[in-house]
Amino acid sequence: MQEAPNNAPLADLDEWEDDLLRRYPEEGDKKFRDYDADARPSVREFYQLNHRYQTMEFVREKHAEYLPLQKRQMTVWEALEYLNTLVDESDPDIDLPQIEHLLQTAEAIRKDGHPRWFILTGLIHDLGKILCLFGEPQWAVVGDTFPVGCRFSEKIVFHEFFADNPDSESADYSTPSGIYQEGCGLDKVTMSWGHDEYLYHVVKDHLPDPALYMIRYHSFYPSHKEGEYGHLMNDRDRELFAWVRKFNPYDLYTKSSERVDVTALRPFYEELITEFLPGKLSW
Ligand SMILES: [Fe+2]
Ligand SMILES: [Fe+2]
Repeated sequence: MQEAPNNAPLADLDEWEDDLLRRYPEEGDKKFRDYDADARPSVREFYQLNHRYQTMEFVREKHAEYLPLQKRQMTVWEALEYLNTLVDESDPDIDLPQIEHLLQTAEAIRKDGHPRWFILTGLIHDLGKILCLFGEPQWAVVGDTFPVGCRFSEKIVFHEFFADNPDSESADYSTPSGIYQEGCGLDKVTMSWGHDEYLYHVVKDHLPDPALYMIRYHSFYPSHKEGEYGHLMNDRDRELFAWVRKFNPYDLYTKSSERVDVTALRPFYEELITEFLPGKLSW
């Protein structure tokens, strides 16, 4: 009999991001390695679940469940505080609360003199991780994202685990474009379910397109880092992905163990939130 899979192999959600840093180290630290072989067993196990269970059917179920946005009414700051209740019990000293990663990302963007909507994007980009607090397993909240409904790129990390995904057997889903038209544009493409897609739907009527692309595709490493899935993109996607790539270093390389003074920063960010995303949002 097969053992039931552990639904939460990662010690905490940050373990996925730590693995991204290992796979995509900052410039100057690049050398060829076998990234899959070097991954921690927990990360391996995490991708095994992610690649097995992220099917078109699963994503459709999650869209039906979450996209009506009827789970909660919260302001952005309330969502930040709610996300912050997601603490790592196994290793509380190593990882900073989620709110600090978000503030560190936003502060780095602010220091570089970027527009206010860009700073705000840094602040909110991971708020979709509250999916975890709604009971979603880690593999349905974080991890690299990828299209479903067409062939899984071989450049997706731990590609071999897609052998366990029933969509790999589907004649409709296993050609390069699958159910999509070449060049149809990513807006027509269904992505694996996670914190990116969810937050996009929460804020989509309020932020400029570059911000929405950063939010919706920041975990789409197979595309913005590996250059895959260009055949599904249109000119607008290609143009806006420049912003996704611009955002990525702020997400990956601004984590520092230096504590952030949340109280001191709060007035600036409350004002920024009020400018673009005032009042309660539907989650
Ligand atoms: Fe993220
Ligand atoms: Fe992030």
